[in-house]
Amino acid sequence: MAKILAIESSCDETAVAITDEGRLLSNVVATQISVHEKFGGVMPEIASRLHCENITVCLTEALNEANLKLEDIDAFAVTRGPGLIGCLHVGLQAAKTLAMLYQKPLIPVHHLAGHIYANEYVGEFHFPLLCVVVSGGNTELVIMRDHMDFEIVGETKDDAVGECYDKVARVLGLPYPGGLPIDQHAKLGEHTYHLPVPTGEGKYDFSYSGLKTAVINLVNSLKMKGEAVNVDNMARSFQDVAISMVVNKSLAAAKDFNVKQVILAGGVSANSYLRAQMKEKLEGTGIELIIPPLWCTTDNAAMIAKVAERLYEKKVFAPLTLGVDPNWKIDHWQEF
Ligand code: KG4
Repeated sequence: MAKILAIESSCDETAVAITDEGRLLSNVVATQISVHEKFGGVMPEIASRLHCENITVCLTEALNEANLKLEDIDAFAVTRGPGLIGCLHVGLQAAKTLAMLYQKPLIPVHHLAGHIYANEYVGEFHFPLLCVVVSGGNTELVIMRDHMDFEIVGETKDDAVGECYDKVARVLGLPYPGGLPIDQHAKLGEHTYHLPVPTGEGKYDFSYSGLKTAVINLVNSLKMKGEAVNVDNMARSFQDVAISMVVNKSLAAAKDFNVKQVILAGGVSANSYLRAQMKEKLEGTGIELIIPPLWCTTDNAAMIAKVAERLYEKKVFAPLTLGVDPNWKIDHWQEF
C-alpha cells in the first residue's frame, strides 16, 4: 500500500483525506451547507465556485494534519462521478494537476463506491453482501460478490429518497438539508396522515416522486382550507412510508440473493428510523448489518481514499486526459 491523497467535490462538500498503508492520517471537510441553506437546495454554480475557493485550503490543512508534503504522496485519487458536473471538475482538475506535477498515478473513484467502502472503517466485508445506497442523489440496491464487483439490482425510477426528504422539509418550512429535521420531528409525532404507499416498478425498484407530490398537495390543501399542519405528525407519516419502502425492498433482496451482510451507505443512512428498523428486521436472520458511523454518512474524502487503496493495489490508474462523468454508474466504474 501507499500514501494516498484523495479529493472529493461532487456536491456541496470540499474534502481532502490522506491515508498511509490504510491508516487515516487526515480527513478535512469544508461544508457549504450554510450557503445553500438560504436557497433550500444546492445551487450548482455557487457550489463550483466555493469548491475553487476551498480546495487549496483543504489540501494544505490535510497535509499539515498528516505532517506530510505533496512530494511524499504516492498517488492522487479523486471522485470522478456521479455528482454535479462543475463541482466534479474542480476536484478533478486539482488531482490531475498534482498527478502531473509530481509524476504520480491518478486514481478515478466512484462516489457511491466511496460511500459503500466507508463501512470498511468499521467492519470487514463478507460476500455476497447487499449495499443499501440511500443519498440525496441516489437510491440503489447493489449486490457485491467480491471487492469492487457491483451489480445494481434495484434503483429509483424517479427521485432519490434524500431528495424527497429535502423537498418535503421545504414544504413543511424546515431547514435544508431536510433529512435530519424530519427525522427529529418524526420522533415526536404520530402516523395520522394518509399517504400513498409507492411500490416501484420492479421488485427491488423505488419511486419517490408520487409520495413527494402527495405530501406537497396535502400540505397545500390543508393550508388553503385554513387548517393547521401538524409538522410532527406529517414528518412521522412521511418517514414511515419513505423508510418502509427502503426496508421492505432491502429485506426482499437480502433474502433472494442469500447475502451474508447488509451495508447501509449514503446520507440517508444517518436516519434513526432506518437504522432501528434494519436492526430489528435483520435480528435473528443470520444476516449481519453494518451501519456506517455518522461521520461517514456525509460526503468526505476518507471514503474515497478507502476505494483508492484497492485501486492502487490493482494499478487502476487513469490517463491525464481523464474527464468527469456526472452520471457514472457504479457497475461501470472500470470505464473511464
Ligand atoms: O450522501 P449525501 O451527501 O448525498 C449525495 O451525495 O447525493 O446525502 C445527503 C442527503 C440529503 O438529502 C439529506 O437530507 C439526507 O441525506 N439526510 C437524511 C438524514 N441526514 C441526512 N435523510 C434522512 N434522515 C436523516 N437523518
